[in-house]
Amino acid sequence: MNAKELRDAYVNFFKKRGHAHIPSSSLIPDNDPTVLFTTAGMHPLVPYLMGEKHPAGKRLVNYQKCIRTGDIEDIGDPTHLTFFEMLGNWSLGDYFKKESIEMSYDLLTEVLRMNINDIAVTAFEGDEDAPRDDETYSIWKSIGFRDDQIFFYGKKDNWWGPAGQTGPCGPDTEIFYDNGQPKCSPGCGPSCKCGKYVEIWNNVFMEYNKNDNGTYSPLKQKNVDTGMGLERVLAMMNGVKSAYDTELFIPVIKEIEGLSGKAYADNEKEFRIIADHLRSAVFILGDDMGVAPSKMDQGYVLRRLIRRASRYMRKLGIESGRMVGICEMIVRQYSDVYPELERNKEFVLHSIAAEEEKFGRTLDRGLRVADKMFEELGDERTLSGELAFRLYDTFGFPIELTKELADERNVSVDIKGFEERFKEHQNVSRAGAEQKFKGGLADSSDETTKLHTATHLLNAALRRVLSADIMQKGSNITPERLRFDFNFDRKVTPEELQKISDIVNDAIKAGIDVVCEELPYDDAKKCGAIGVFEGKYEDIVKVYTISGISKEMCGGPHVKNTSELEGFRILKEESSAAGVRRIKAKVGKL
Ligand code: ALA
Repeated sequence: MNAKELRDAYVNFFKKRGHAHIPSSSLIPDNDPTVLFTTAGMHPLVPYLMGEKHPAGKRLVNYQKCIRTGDIEDIGDPTHLTFFEMLGNWSLGDYFKKESIEMSYDLLTEVLRMNINDIAVTAFEGDEDAPRDDETYSIWKSIGFRDDQIFFYGKKDNWWGPAGQTGPCGPDTEIFYDNGQPKCSPGCGPSCKCGKYVEIWNNVFMEYNKNDNGTYSPLKQKNVDTGMGLERVLAMMNGVKSAYDTELFIPVIKEIEGLSGKAYADNEKEFRIIADHLRSAVFILGDDMGVAPSKMDQGYVLRRLIRRASRYMRKLGIESGRMVGICEMIVRQYSDVYPELERNKEFVLHSIAAEEEKFGRTLDRGLRVADKMFEELGDERTLSGELAFRLYDTFGFPIELTKELADERNVSVDIKGFEERFKEHQNVSRAGAEQKFKGGLADSSDETTKLHTATHLLNAALRRVLSADIMQKGSNITPERLRFDFNFDRKVTPEELQKISDIVNDAIKAGIDVVCEELPYDDAKKCGAIGVFEGKYEDIVKVYTISGISKEMCGGPHVKNTSELEGFRILKEESSAAGVRRIKAKVGKL
């Protein structure tokens, strides 16, 4: 089975069981400041898990682009990936544990042709927040699982979510492939890392909301959220040890062999890091909401990925300037499934070339300075935090790169010292960072809902005053303010800002109803609704209309009438990136 067949088989299985196929959302979460990237298929669905109506119905299925950078230092081993595709199916207040588990079992045995004896499953053992999940246990039993195939674990292993700081979450049942090797110890089970059990699917029973203060309360509806890692299952289906040995990576690995003249088998770690990091970089850059390498947020993660790949390419003896060719291969390989990569190809390749070139210059100088630092250590076997910080500050060396250089020389790095310096340096922006973790998609408080509606009014006003070509490039809402990024290549004048805020305030004073309708995408486009939507033409979308001023495709939620906003004030207008401006604004009595 290849990746395409696996995606199709999964989607078709659930389509036959009443699920609507929804498109993969952006990798950069829209309107959710609690995380940098989409980390799971459920992430773009948070408002619907909390009770908003989804236009495609209550049963959904898709494959979703995801990025997880939490274990970036583990990349290089056979299992970790920063970018991956998640196959997922959802019930939004429709079916619950029984149907979900039975459908999963049918897919595993009928589509993936697994044998019940090679499967092990887990259930939540219960604690002060939620009871022991005996229902899940009974369902697996009724299917025919023996007691020694069902394992109970606590929150650490058998609870999933929320994706950010707050939001939907719940106990889960995880499904593992048992490769048949003997148990490493009497206590060995799916939570053991010995390799006997390989996780393939996670079914989360999302019936709780985690609140700001850490407590859990019941959600309006009981949902199912499942996730299966495409790359991992593909490796399993093809009887290979790792995703890097599948068709998804083999062409790139071969290309690196050609460029370096070295064999993958002798340099697995280096090859995997290059292949993994460049694939992630291509998807971050090639997203319709894509960002360029920078010192901040997603841009900084992207920069670290490219720089680390660059250093390993240098280590394998590949000359500077070759990264673009590898990235072009990745764009080509994926553009039938993710056409945005082809659409944004010029930006992807240009940004890769520029970053490789820029870092290429500091990399060589930095490596020379680092060499000297290590030499001067003499018998002292630890690089101080101060020197590690200097490598970061002057040459842009991410700490993991410095650590790797040190490891290769059997020297340690004072990471704590580095972090202290780093924090001192970051202190100025710390207040901002904390702010960022408030709010988010899961926060549909009155304040964020008002700001969401204000964002639509602002978007419409910008198009009227500045240009009909204005497009949203990013949106971020905290309970205190909205932040809106849009394409425009010069400063907005004070007069223009005044006009924009007058239009929004007039709409608020006029007390216009905010009306929501569900339309096929094609009709929504025809009636002039704006919005980024990556779906197919027959898909149904929600359109929010504020009569006479705004019509936008969006998931909601919104206020019922613009008068609820009371007033609107622009706080700041500034540059966000090349060709992108940023406006911060608030609502409330003027
Ligand atoms: N959201 C769940 C996960 O990521 C399915 O494992």
